[in-house]
Amino acid sequence: MAHNWTPESWRGDRFTAKHIPHYEDQAALAGAEQTLAGYPPLVFAGEARALKAELGRAAAGEAFLLQGGDCAESFAEFSPNNIRDTFRVILQMAAVLTFASKMPVVKVGRMAGQFAKPRSAPTETQGDITAPSYFGDIINGIEFGVESRANDPERMIRAYSQSAATLNLLRAFAGGGYANLRQVHRWTLDFMGRSPWAEQYQSIADRIGEALDFMEACGIDTENEPALKAASFYTSHEALLLPYEQALTRQDSLTGEWFDCSAHMLWIGDRTRFIDSAHVEFLRGVNNPIGVKCGPSLAPDDLLAMLDTLNPGREAGRITLISRYGHEKVEAGLPPLVRAVAREGHPVVWSCDPMHGNVVKSDSGYKTRPFERILSEVKGFFAVHRAEGTHAGGIHVEMTGQDVTECTGGAVAITDEGLADRYHTHCDPRLNAAQSLELAFTLAEMLNLELTERQRDAA
Ligand code: TRP
Ligand code: MN
Repeated sequence: MAHNWTPESWRGDRFTAKHIPHYEDQAALAGAEQTLAGYPPLVFAGEARALKAELGRAAAGEAFLLQGGDCAESFAEFSPNNIRDTFRVILQMAAVLTFASKMPVVKVGRMAGQFAKPRSAPTETQGDITAPSYFGDIINGIEFGVESRANDPERMIRAYSQSAATLNLLRAFAGGGYANLRQVHRWTLDFMGRSPWAEQYQSIADRIGEALDFMEACGIDTENEPALKAASFYTSHEALLLPYEQALTRQDSLTGEWFDCSAHMLWIGDRTRFIDSAHVEFLRGVNNPIGVKCGPSLAPDDLLAMLDTLNPGREAGRITLISRYGHEKVEAGLPPLVRAVAREGHPVVWSCDPMHGNVVKSDSGYKTRPFERILSEVKGFFAVHRAEGTHAGGIHVEMTGQDVTECTGGAVAITDEGLADRYHTHCDPRLNAAQSLELAFTLAEMLNLELTERQRDAA
């Protein structure tokens, strides 16, 4: 058990809490916290442990992490179709990646709880009105205005309910037949027909289908084999709004260990991962798998200090390091961290976030991410790990199953002018379904290369 830790120790004077809103009405805040503390946990300890074991395999080079979903979930876009479509694109990507790498793919959604956003400026001015920035639907409203941007603790209750309903549907999809590998052809979305990658996908789906037919002929009941019938699927979000996270932190009755039961995996952002951060203090004591975003400002020694704090027992699967350098910086910036971690023998999953370092403002005024830069960072990430002899263990993307136009480029090219057509994100621009699948094929190519090299070394 973490030394000197309680679910509320992050509130201590020794720690600096950044990006946590100040609530005017403290009594209302306390009321919402108390309500949440009495509600059922969204996930339970055994599931978080199972994810940790799966991630432990990724740390050992025997699995690949696929983590994706909205930059920010919203109350407005909450619908079963949205959840289903994001889930099915993740399944498609996972099928492609599993097929290429011959490794299990650990599937984790940025879903069912990804509501809070850190912002660089606390306020926003339009005309002669200055209002607080938008911090995510769990905190305030996106609409510009002093009233709608006011922090409201009741929003935490609504976010909890939405997360519970989202998770319920995801569990049904993952276990109830939708994710059965026999359905592999059905996960293609209609509008994907225009992408050349849809055809590639159909051909992989055919080969999977044939493999299943073959196994069936050999006497394996492929319809009822649990490993083929259900997909393992987990949830994650940035652990930013600590009052919410604390309220959902529970002690496992079997072991006495603490878990943040708002999601299976939590990560700590690039802006809150400094020494003496209240967020580090909070995550230190919960036993979930933890992600740490690593950007250009992170020095190797500071990373090592943080690993000692967050994972003193060096448990495999506990830590996923999510690098986000930008396409031009990854090949120079990442190796010092990879070497330091390898030298100290910390078992981590190295995952690549090719989204956050590649944001540009388009000529048309939209915040966007050129798809070629996203692919280029991914390739740089793989090149670094190949050179260092470490496993490129995962990918972290902002994506949606919807046919949005938020990132430029891709095989069905989205132009600068085209961004206006369906730009729906509540925060950062996401890959649409076709771009997500295209990314999966690029990853598949690189994982396949890794596999070929491994087989050659073994021979
Ligand atoms: N159960 C395995 C897994 O979760 C295989 C599997 C079942 C699967 N359905 C899937 C893999 C859908 C990818 C996509 O990985
Ligand atoms: Mn984002």
